[in-house]
Amino acid sequence: MQPSPKDNASKPEDAWHSKNLTGIEHISAEEITTVFRQADIFKPSLGSREKLASLHGHTVVNLFLEPSTRTRTAFEVSAKRLGADVISLDSDASSLVKGETLRDTAMNVRALNADMIIIRHKAAGAARYLADKLDIPIVNAGDGAHAHPTQALLDAYTLREHFGSGPERSLKGRKVTILGDILFSRVARSNIHCLSKLGVQITLAGPTTLVPDVLEKAYAAEGVHVAHETEKALREADAVMLLRIQHERQTTTHFPSLGEYTKVFGLNRERESWLKPGAIVMHPGPINRGVEVESEIADGARSAILQQVRNGIAVRMAVLHLCAAAWRRQLKPAV
Ligand code: CP
Repeated sequence: MQPSPKDNASKPEDAWHSKNLTGIEHISAEEITTVFRQADIFKPSLGSREKLASLHGHTVVNLFLEPSTRTRTAFEVSAKRLGADVISLDSDASSLVKGETLRDTAMNVRALNADMIIIRHKAAGAARYLADKLDIPIVNAGDGAHAHPTQALLDAYTLREHFGSGPERSLKGRKVTILGDILFSRVARSNIHCLSKLGVQITLAGPTTLVPDVLEKAYAAEGVHVAHETEKALREADAVMLLRIQHERQTTTHFPSLGEYTKVFGLNRERESWLKPGAIVMHPGPINRGVEVESEIADGARSAILQQVRNGIAVRMAVLHLCAAAWRRQLKPAV
């Protein structure tokens, strides 16, 4: 039996037991808080040019088989700050284009002495699949419409900086409205799991074709509410999390046009005025300016968007550090 996450929790890594992070659904609120505690330790070091030694001697492979700016760069910066050597593989420049399978690619990367693989893939379940096949840590950087666990962790970490109360910086009772393309969003799925575990009340809003009522049943255990009155959902929120329309995952048209979407759901000056004075605006990026949000709001006083990006480094450093520490313990069990 695994020790309880609270046992011997003097150092965050003593309360983390998995070499992998493939999704949020299987980790506990205590483990999420463990990532935050570790990120709190790393965050002050970000102002320095000194590298830390946590992953010294480790080779981390960034296997990004879908486009990325933020996640890929943040993982690379994080691994390097922890002292790792980082190799980035693109789908276009790898033997995947010659028909090599994902499994063979990963097994060969492992044979070349990789100590950790960070994977982004268009197929839901790709990270879990590799975690079952390989003996090294696998970190999910986004798999299809399934999960984007580090995005959810950095989003919750950012919310905690704004609204956390008490010594634990608890988010219990806070209200977050997620607005946009929920159906195809791995960010929404991971955030629903992460924020509900932290006691946040989540409202999903957007076109009924992208936010169907059935989501309320699907996430009944998470206490999620589907709102059809966008105004009410925005007025009550402590934070509004905007999502991009994910054309690349949609096979049919879910609303008449982007212009129509912007007219009814885009965050413009009028809809922003419905927000509470202290409410913040979040977006995982990439932003489609003028579609889901007006530029002046994305760049305005309420925007936490670049804070989210910056927090992505401390949070991903924490995840890499914790997964590597758990892996090393599995290699050398305590005597
Ligand atoms: N938020 C996010 O996943 O952005 P990228 O696609 O640029 O990594």
